[in-house]
Amino acid sequence: MMAANPELGGKYTVVRTLGEGSYGVVYEAVHNELGRTVAVKRLHPHQAMGEPLERFKREAQICARLDNPHIVGVHDFGEDQKGPFLVMDLLRGRTLAEALHEGDKLPVEMVVTIARQVLSALSAAHRAGVVHRDIKPANIFLVHSPLGVVVKVLDFGIAKLREAAPLTRAGDMVGTINYMSPEQALASEVDERSDIYALGVCMYIALTGKRPFTRNNVHETIAAIEMGICKEITFYRRDLPAGLADLVHKAFALQPAQRFQTAEEMIDALAPYVPARAEGAERSPSQSGVKPISGNRAPEGSARVSIKPPPADSFTLDRPPSQTKLVVGVIVGFLLAAALVFAVTKLLTD
Ligand SMILES: Nc1ncnc2c1ncn2[C@@H]1O[C@H](COP(=O)(O)OP(=O)(O)OP(=O)(O)O)[C@@H](O)[C@H]1O
Ligand SMILES: [Mg+2]
Repeated sequence: MMAANPELGGKYTVVRTLGEGSYGVVYEAVHNELGRTVAVKRLHPHQAMGEPLERFKREAQICARLDNPHIVGVHDFGEDQKGPFLVMDLLRGRTLAEALHEGDKLPVEMVVTIARQVLSALSAAHRAGVVHRDIKPANIFLVHSPLGVVVKVLDFGIAKLREAAPLTRAGDMVGTINYMSPEQALASEVDERSDIYALGVCMYIALTGKRPFTRNNVHETIAAIEMGICKEITFYRRDLPAGLADLVHKAFALQPAQRFQTAEEMIDALAPYVPARAEGAERSPSQSGVKPISGNRAPEGSARVSIKPPPADSFTLDRPPSQTKLVVGVIVGFLLAAALVFAVTKLLTD
């Protein structure tokens, strides 16, 4: 039986724990008045206080107003005696981290589809002046729907908290460091090109099943990141369409100036690799005539942004698209053969 929870502002009742990360615990909960099921992320109080918490709230507000289909919906923010909490859509599915088993290589079109949806979320956030700073498979949620999978990016603004408070668990640094850009590792200024870098690393891992910079310890890993030393994607995977490996390496180039400069630029670069049936359903922001907002930061208080992102690509994780093509091919072949046999039999009997 559900325990009534006087916490969470008395508004929500916790049903169960969904998972725990470096910044807090995520629960499934029910809104007491509306009966609506939600996900509640309770932030560790020692990591969320003062100015960093205020900045996090501002960015959560901005993202809540973006209304992008690839950014998880945020509904509420509150604070009780245990600290701050964030109320969001309860997502059904699994994170990319869970979908990527050690050593697995995902199909190319799946990786491209996921990347473009993440880029749609990043494009909207970057235009509103928000850099995610913690793009990694655990923050890329794959929601299952009858049409396939839709990506939802989690934890916009959360990484702001890390800058102010030390990580408390030994694994936290290791879990995050693989996706950290060289400028982040050096604690320099970061901009949207850090998110593009992290997405490039996610694509590398999804395509090869290997982490490009992971070494024996954190120090060696940071050194590899700062020098940009990793094996070529083609070392692990040779069946990629021409140019895709270079594209991914460009996304996580050592120097920000050598990467894609905007999410839209990378969406356009990925267009030739989009699965055929998704073509036409897609338009990148630049193709749809949306003008980029100049500058890196939107003025505070001017957060209402309504950018229509490209519609979601879709695919199913359980049956890769190539398998689907095979099944359709076999059925069509069978029907053709049956028609041929029928025609020949009819000719002979006439
Ligand atoms: N909106 C949501 N709906 C459903 N499950 C969620 C939602 N948000 C998070 N989760 C689940 O809760 C788990 C913990 O999320 P959390 O963001 O706290 O951890 P993390 O991403 O692994 O680490 P970090 O703290 O570095 O972000 C996730 O792995 C995910 O499975
Ligand atoms: Mg997370």
